[in-house]
Parts: sequence; structure tokens; C-alpha cells
Amino acid sequence: MSIPVILDGDPGHDDAIAWVLAFAAKGLDVRGVTTVGGNSSLANTTYNARRILTLLGATDIPLAQGATRPLVVEPMIAPSVHGESGLDGPALPEPEMDVQPGGAVELMARLLRETAEPIWLVPTGALTNVAILLLAHPELKPKIAGISLMGGGIQSGNWTPAAEFNILVDPQAAQIVFESGLPLRMAGLDVTEKACFLPQDFDRVRAIGGQLAEIVADWLEFFFEFHREIGYEGAPVHDPVAIVALTNPEILQTRDLYVQIETAGQYACGATIGDWYGSAGQPPNTQVAMGIDRQAYVDLIVEAVAEHTRRLAS
Ligand code: RIB
Ligand code: CA
Repeated sequence: MSIPVILDGDPGHDDAIAWVLAFAAKGLDVRGVTTVGGNSSLANTTYNARRILTLLGATDIPLAQGATRPLVVEPMIAPSVHGESGLDGPALPEPEMDVQPGGAVELMARLLRETAEPIWLVPTGALTNVAILLLAHPELKPKIAGISLMGGGIQSGNWTPAAEFNILVDPQAAQIVFESGLPLRMAGLDVTEKACFLPQDFDRVRAIGGQLAEIVADWLEFFFEFHREIGYEGAPVHDPVAIVALTNPEILQTRDLYVQIETAGQYACGATIGDWYGSAGQPPNTQVAMGIDRQAYVDLIVEAVAEHTRRLAS
């Protein structure tokens, strides 16, 4: 039984790898892709998305560009991590597809109206598009199976000591999502910092051979450069964990928590605050991933690259 999904992201090296996994995974049915600013400008992440879908031979999948800015705060980008283009490193094919007219929220709403079964939303960037969808189309919430997101961190942040990048880019959007009442699966830094690819794993990917494997290995090596400079032994490949939470939840250890989003605060804006001891008096609203079988995670992504390479060759 395949799980229908809409991918929303800010590619971004790890978003790109998450999308390779999503398209290769036998258990997923990708209905559409939408873009948001974050790792780079919206224009860059959208151009990158067009190139990634072209690379994957997925030019038939509807793609739409998302919100031009966060709901309230000023836009923020991360060229130090992903480069000026947002996907620096290997050369990619020029796009063979363009975005749908109407934008991300209109595409998401159309796909939700048309689907026979509820669809999972899988955002791996700021939550702006998802928040706008929930505000503009509350009548479509029954068609959303849930939201499996990469973002947040109960125990720490990365862009500030308290906040993870995706949540910090648009805290108000995150608050709308976490207060939506929809089933939430959160792949935050608690788990994604353990989802590390080591240099020997890069070599496993490259050894598959072919253009896709070369590009994914180059993406991993580029993504590792930033992290190596700050003392990492590997590259924390954050975004694919949001996919794995749907396709292979057995490799994750999770905890159901009531999670709130700090939208103000001098030091903690963008924090995802987990209620470990029930002191907020609220039931859990989020399944938070806290641990992962790292080897199994690496194996899944290596196999996804090999599987998609076979498909492209057939
Ligand atoms: O904090 C990591 C997250 O921010 C990942 O989704 C990465 O792609 C960036 O968007
Ligand atoms: Ca991302």
C-alpha cells in the first residue's frame, strides 16, 4: 500500500537527497512538489527543484513555487552551508520542466481536493507554505493524513542555541502547524544529528556508478565541508529522516510529546519546546524522533540511489 505524499522543501543538499529517497521508495506515491525559501532564495530553491526533478526523470510531477517570504519575520538564507546557489557542488542538468501556474498553496489544495485518500505533507524547509494552506483551506484538513517534517530540536538548536533553522526561518508558520491538531511527526535535530553519513558512506554511494550516484556523492561531500570545519566526523543528513518516518519508522526511536513553538523571546525565538513531564497539562501533539539506527538509515539511502539508477537505466 503506497503512501501518497506532497514534498515541500528548500533544496538544499539534504532536501535533494530526501527527494531521491522519496522517488525511489517503493512505499511512496509522490503527488507533487513545492518550494520554499530558506537554504537559499525562493528563486534558487525553485530552480534547484526543477533541476533535481529533471535529474530524477520526474518531470511529470507537478511542481509549484511557494511563498515569497515568511509570514512575519524577514527572510533568512544559509549560503555558508549550501553555497550561493543553495545546491553548490556538482553540475546538474538544466531543467526540462517549469513550475505550475498558481503557486504552491493552489497546487497543494488541488491535489488534496482531487485525492481519494488523505495525503501526507512532507516539509523539509520552513513551514510557510503549509501554514498558509491550513489558514486558507481549513476545509481540506480531513484530506491531510498528517505532516512529517524535518525541523526543530527538543534538546538544542543549530542556527541559534535554542532554534533549528527551518523553524527559525518562520516561527509563526511553525506555531500554526504545531497547533493544527493534525498528526505530526517531527524529525528534529535530536535524531538528525545522529543521522550522519561518514566519508566511507560517501564512497559506497559513489561506488554505485552512474550520473545520479556521482551527484549524490558530490552533494554529500559538499554538505560535509561545512560540518567538517566545525568538528563533525560526518554529514548530518537531516531531511531524509522525514521520509524515513513514513517509509521505515522501525529504524527510529520516538517519543510522543506536547510541543510548543516560541515565537518571541530574545534568546529562544524559534525553539521547539517539548513537555517531557506533562507540566503544560496538554496531551501530546507530536511524535518526536529521538534516535535512529544510523547504519540502516545509510543503507536505505544507498539502496535508494542504486534503485533510482536502475530505473533511470531501464
Ligand atoms: O536545520 C537543518 C534544516 O535546515 C535542513 O532542512 C536543511 O536543509 C535546512 O533547510
Ligand atoms: Ca531543508
